[in-house]
Amino acid sequence: MKEPHVAIVGATGMVGQEMRKVLEQRGFPVAGLALLASERSRGKAFEFRGESHPVQVLDQGSFKGIDIALFSAGASISREFAPMAVEAGAVVVDNSSAFRMDPGVPLVVPEVNPGDALKHSGIIANPNCSTIQMVVVLEPLHRKFVIERVVVTTFQSVSGTGKEAVEELMRQVRAIEAGEAVGCDVYPHQIAYNCLPHIDVFLENGYTKEEEKMFNETRKIMGVPDLALTATAVRVPVLVGHSESVNIQFKNPVGPAAAREVLSGAPGVVVMDDPPNNVYPLAIDCEGEDPSFVGRIREDFSAANALNLWIVSDNLRKGAALNAVQIAELLVG
Ligand SMILES: NC(=O)c1ccc[n+]([C@@H]2O[C@H](COP(=O)([O-])OP(=O)(O)OC[C@H]3O[C@@H](n4cnc5c(N)ncnc54)[C@H](OP(=O)(O)O)[C@@H]3O)[C@@H](O)[C@H]2O)c1
Repeated sequence: MKEPHVAIVGATGMVGQEMRKVLEQRGFPVAGLALLASERSRGKAFEFRGESHPVQVLDQGSFKGIDIALFSAGASISREFAPMAVEAGAVVVDNSSAFRMDPGVPLVVPEVNPGDALKHSGIIANPNCSTIQMVVVLEPLHRKFVIERVVVTTFQSVSGTGKEAVEELMRQVRAIEAGEAVGCDVYPHQIAYNCLPHIDVFLENGYTKEEEKMFNETRKIMGVPDLALTATAVRVPVLVGHSESVNIQFKNPVGPAAAREVLSGAPGVVVMDDPPNNVYPLAIDCEGEDPSFVGRIREDFSAANALNLWIVSDNLRKGAALNAVQIAELLVG
């Protein structure tokens, strides 16, 4: 695995495109790269390290000679093709929700539980984007002050839904500016100039599946099965970058200064917290950046040992492509 042959499944999508960029930017030791997508992408080609790579149509034979397969084409494609990739000898790093809560599949954020990556049986799951950017901040605080409860509200960009959602937002903005009727194909309501408290499908308990992913995945990644966590996930008309308002209650006393100190030394975290000078993390600034940015670190005066934070990260990078490539880096040592 020193210089693997790599496949990107979903190479033409928002995440797949970013994976190709991240592999190149981080100098990942790629011996050969296969770009895989659907029949719709036949004839397309993309550059990698100065060379054009044609997109190939995904089929049962796509994984011959592949060592690492980065999947990013949705859960149903992962369910169908990831086992074939494993059978062909590849290790799969899967971005979809297909295997995340499978007890035999590690769910990995390299800053939090890197050791779990090596316990795989062929598939390693990449967590949900809003969970990844939150746990890199929660983990160092938990180690120092012991987290008892988390209340999170997310403000998630349309690129988190994929390329068709980005096109829908832009189309709606143009239609509104031209005074034309607004069509909704991807979301159930207009997303332009609006906020939708609805990400993924509703469950019988009143939460959405996205919110449930945040409870379950955070517990699994951090290895704290009884962590109390509640979430409200909101889609906002931002192109790239998820923002999160996070309220955390701790077992031990903690103030903003102590939290800032811990987070300043935490891997994958950048503290951006100077409100008098209007400095705090913004989605538009995090696009193309790797860390989870954290600011507005302040005491919650309504409860003992509690803080409020504002966490922002590029959902296509740390929330997806970068985290997947970091997992692949653990595999190649
Ligand atoms: N966007 C994010 O921030 C984010 C974050 C974490 C996880 N994820 C997960 O990553 C996955 C991809 O998300 P995305 O945002 O990149 O979506 P996207 O922009 O809609 O791209 C979807 C990709 O899947 C390919 N695909 C669809 N149907 C296929 C088929 N039948 N055979 C082969 N390829 C097929 C598409 O190929 P064509 O172009 O040929 O149609 C495209 O490359 C999803 O599972 C998503 O939940 C996304």
